[in-house]
This record gives sequence, structure tokens and C-alpha cells, in this order.
Amino acid sequence: MEEKKVMIQLKNVVKFFGRHKVVKSINLDIYEGEFLTLLGPSGCGKTTTLRMIAGFEEATEGEIYLDDVNMEGKPPYARDVNTVFQNYALFPHMNVYDNIAFGLVEKKLPRAEIREKVLNALEMVQLEGFEKRKPSQMSGGQKQRVAIARALVNNPKVLLLDEPLGALDLKLRKQMQSELKHLQQKLGITFLYVTHDQEEALTMSDRIAIMNQGRIEQLGTAQDIYEHPVSKFVADFIGESNILEGYVTKTDDATISVRFEFGQLDGIAASEFVDEEMIYVSVRPEHVKYSQKPVKDFHLQGIIKEYIYAGSSIRMIAELPNSQEIILLCHPQDTLPATGTDIYLYWNPDKAVLLHTNEDKLYDLIEDAVLK
Ligand SMILES: Nc1ncnc2c1ncn2[C@@H]1O[C@H](COP(=O)(O)OP(=O)(O)O)[C@@H](O)[C@H]1O
Ligand SMILES: [Mg+2]
Repeated sequence: MEEKKVMIQLKNVVKFFGRHKVVKSINLDIYEGEFLTLLGPSGCGKTTTLRMIAGFEEATEGEIYLDDVNMEGKPPYARDVNTVFQNYALFPHMNVYDNIAFGLVEKKLPRAEIREKVLNALEMVQLEGFEKRKPSQMSGGQKQRVAIARALVNNPKVLLLDEPLGALDLKLRKQMQSELKHLQQKLGITFLYVTHDQEEALTMSDRIAIMNQGRIEQLGTAQDIYEHPVSKFVADFIGESNILEGYVTKTDDATISVRFEFGQLDGIAASEFVDEEMIYVSVRPEHVKYSQKPVKDFHLQGIIKEYIYAGSSIRMIAELPNSQEIILLCHPQDTLPATGTDIYLYWNPDKAVLLHTNEDKLYDLIEDAVLK
């Protein structure tokens, strides 16, 4: 197999702001030419992680390598990376040409070379002919293209992008997503992309690192993460999941039974759980099925509460006796029972993910122990 070259490496990177630990020991290898996304809710430490790589913040602990060189003590301009921010950060009094040329002029490159590079960068972002415009005369999407051109003109090894499309409306954002992805593939530059928008991450990335409270909770391809979330947080955050909390009542060598407040599953293949352990059973709406007759091994009875029409699909909301709602995806051509009908829920056991419940608490205990 071809050996992939690591372009960015984070080793046990920790960041404190005062007594507040906002990045909690991140380890991450990003490969040359890869499109890797940090995805997580607001405040989980994405921007801080990016700023440490760019050199705008110093890591409190740990090491950051770019192309095998330890970046400790190196200022931002000495790192072969460029950053694109959400708010463009263009110079308002300069026209497009001068904005893009700025860094090259500072480096005192010959004028003809600067011109060639600037025009080339403008072509990459499809803004030929916009050289004389001022930022105030451009739309949000055009300004962000200028910001991207300005980052690319230095031909960096790595482009860091912090929610670059966050200020654009949905349609333009989708268009820019595919443009950026194509540009990245064409140039072969390593992209480290930050977003809190799961759909953006799922459609653009080679791999996604899911961040939660300063940690990478899962790293993998979109498909890996969607199909095999490792925690309740990930199952909840990516896509939509029905999550049932229960406890293990019976184990033999290869199967378990799980008891819920209202219901039970029998003979589920799993060996890593112990008697009486609390667990989550997570199932995607597209995998939940219903029957009007009891189903072997599944003892989950509910009633159809309502249907929600969403164009090409219909979502059925079923309610368990404890009021927990379970979402099922139905097809518009199906003959659907009336609301109020009693139904039995089931799924292919392979399609459910069984998760330990104690992870989050465990993390926090470890964290507290470290701080003392
Ligand atoms: N310069 C700073 N000083 C103090 N706290 C900060 C600073 N920058 C960020 N934080 C805090 O660090 C946490 C992570 O922030 P950030 O990295 O911006 O998250 P994200 O980009 O994922 O939304 C937040 O709680 C934020 O308030
Ligand atoms: Mg941020």
C-alpha cells in the first residue's frame, strides 16, 4: 500500500485560557492532499485548534508539526499555511488586485511575477476581470472568493479554513462548497476545514474529526461516522438518531437482552456488554420499521402519533408509552395506517448501534483527576 505522507501532526495538544482547558489533548495526523474537517458545536475548540496550527495561539502543552517541522516558537508568517476566515478580513480601502497582491508585495517579488500570480489566483476562483473592484462593491460570495484567492496566491502547503462559508445564504453556500472541493482536488493542497454544519462536513470531507468539549470524539470518513457512531454525542450530532436508554438484563457468550422503560429487545448479538450495564441503543429513522402484529425478539409497542410530510419522504412519529418519540422514514407511495393505530417497532439488529452510557462521565472524572 502507498505510504501516505503526514502534512499536519498534532501530538497531545492542550490549550488553557486561564484556568479553562478548552483543548484537551488532541492527537491528529492530517495527510498531504487531504480534505479534513473539524466538526463540532460552537465553543468546542475548533477555532482555537486552527489558530494554534496557524501560529496565532501558542499550545499550552504538546507539539504541532507541519511537514515534519516542529512549529514551536515559529510566528504565523514563518509557517507554510494560510488561513481563510468567515469574515473575509479583506482590506476595505484596497481593490481586489491589491488585496490579493498584498503578501507578495511585502515579500518584494518582481512586479511582473506578482501580476502573473494574482491573475492566476483570480482565475482559480473565477473572478477574472474583478481586479479594480473594492470589497464594498462585491457580494459576500465574491468577497469570500477574493479571500480564498489571497490565501492561495502564496501557494501554501496547507490551507486552514474557519467557517469560510458561514456568512453566505444557503444556495450560494452549496455552490461554494462544490467549487472549493473541486479547487482542493485540482490543486492537491491539504485543507483543514472548520464548520459546525454537519451537512457541509459530510459532503466535502475526505475525513471528519468530530469535536466535543475540546476533544476529538471520533475520526473517520463520513460513512464510518454515520454508520458507526462511537458515542451518543456523535449519534445525536450527525444525522438523526432514535436513542433508547436501557439496561442489559441477560448475557450469554454472544448475545444480550436489553430492557427499556417500556419494552425489551432479546437476543441481540453483542459481547462487549455486561449484566445490568446501562446502554444506549441508537437507530436511524430510515432503519426503523413497524408492524401491526408482534415481532419476534422485539417488544416495543407504540402508537402512531403523527405524520410529517417532507417532499420526497414522510416521517412517521411513533410514541412509546413513556412519551418518547421514535421517528421512522416512510415512502409516500406506502399505504400508511391512520394516526392512533397501535404498532410494533423493530429493525434489523445489524442496523442498530449499541453504545456504553458511561463514557462522558468517565471523561469528566479523568479530567477532574488531571486538574487536581
Ligand atoms: N482568547 C480567548 N480567551 C479566553 N477564552 C477563549 C478565547 N478564545 C476562545 N475561548 C473559549 O474557548 C472555547 C473554545 O472556543 P473556540 O475555539 O472559538 O470554539 P469553536 O470555534 O469550536 O466555536 C470557548 O469556550 C471560548 O469561549
Ligand atoms: Mg469557531
